[in-house]
Amino acid sequence: MIDEMTTVLEPSALPDFVETEYIKDITKRALSYIKAGFPVHFRGPSGTGKTTLAMHLASKIKRPVVVIHGDEEFTTSDLVGGEYGYRIRKVVDRFISRVLKTEEDMVKRWVDNRLTVACKYGFTMIYDEFTRSRPEANNILLSILQEKMMDLPVGRGGEEPYLRVDPDFTAIFTSNPEEYAGVHRSQDALRDRMITMDLDHFDYDTELAVTRAKSKLSKPDAEVIVNVVRGLRESGKCEFAPTVRGCIMIAKTLKVQNLTPGKSDGKFMQICQDILASETSRVGSKTNQSRVKEIVRELVAKEIGMKRTIHVGGKTAEGVGMIKAVDGAGVEEKKESENLAAVTS
Ligand SMILES: Nc1ncnc2c1ncn2[C@@H]1O[C@H](COP(=O)(O)OP(=O)(O)OP(=O)(O)O)[C@@H](O)[C@H]1O
Ligand SMILES: [Mg+2]
Repeated sequence: MIDEMTTVLEPSALPDFVETEYIKDITKRALSYIKAGFPVHFRGPSGTGKTTLAMHLASKIKRPVVVIHGDEEFTTSDLVGGEYGYRIRKVVDRFISRVLKTEEDMVKRWVDNRLTVACKYGFTMIYDEFTRSRPEANNILLSILQEKMMDLPVGRGGEEPYLRVDPDFTAIFTSNPEEYAGVHRSQDALRDRMITMDLDHFDYDTELAVTRAKSKLSKPDAEVIVNVVRGLRESGKCEFAPTVRGCIMIAKTLKVQNLTPGKSDGKFMQICQDILASETSRVGSKTNQSRVKEIVRELVAKEIGMKRTIHVGGKTAEGVGMIKAVDGAGVEEKKESENLAAVTS
């Protein structure tokens, strides 16, 4: 008996998805590889839009979508299917009235998993972060991608020992670079069967458009945030470069608090420091954090038109009279003392 218990998604456009020239270009190239019959693999650091692009690409292919998330604990049966649960049949023999004889017979039920379902019906499979699964769990993909055949385990039953992969089946993979924690090296043979597109952090326009779309912040306000995050990224001083997620977090926090970078009584600085210092270090070491906070402070000060004014350990290092605060409504001037209340390290 074969069962399918798989969640299949409708291919549809994602809410708040922005399609800049950069995104259009990657999508177009990826679609051309898929059209030529090759699986596509988006590889890149965290926050470079791999998962979102994979979903977008799947929506363009217009076939139902199954999503698999790579997992250290995965075995092949998590991908293909397995014998889950069983039915018990009990026979009670009362031939001799004083003797009770029980016979148990277990019938296992085979359940097809996502990969099998996608191959069988020609769906699009997104295998997100596939290198988080152990390489041996992914071996099954080798014959699927090359020979378009899927070896079926004996327990599945059925007439054929293999399943012919439907011609509409498409595979899209994403992965983080190998130096990331919890990531296995991708098998050379598997990588050789897909077209890998290396992604980097978004270009300026895309990062700005994503930040605006996710937060609904005005363009000048979003620009300040993106400039700070990109400035920190380009400083090269972080253990991990800050990502567009940092921009989104700062922007959304400002939005819910009804603040703008210029009119926040120093809260903008605090928010940027909190979010960016933690995002960019793995263990949260004090020296690392204070170094990042220092850079963020300088970048924020520069962005909101403030000359260097630093409160270090309660002392003011350098004072200035006025700052120019830029917000969606325009430019206004404020006394720096009003804004520095929370600007401490
Ligand atoms: N084109 C886009 N339009 C709107 N939002 C986007 C777009 N691309 C990425 N994002 C947003 O940017 C953030 C990071 O994108 P995503 O999760 O796709 O990155 P990733 O490369 O998969 O990261 P990770 O390696 O950490 O999984 C998400 O919040 C996502 O919603
Ligand atoms: Mg992802």
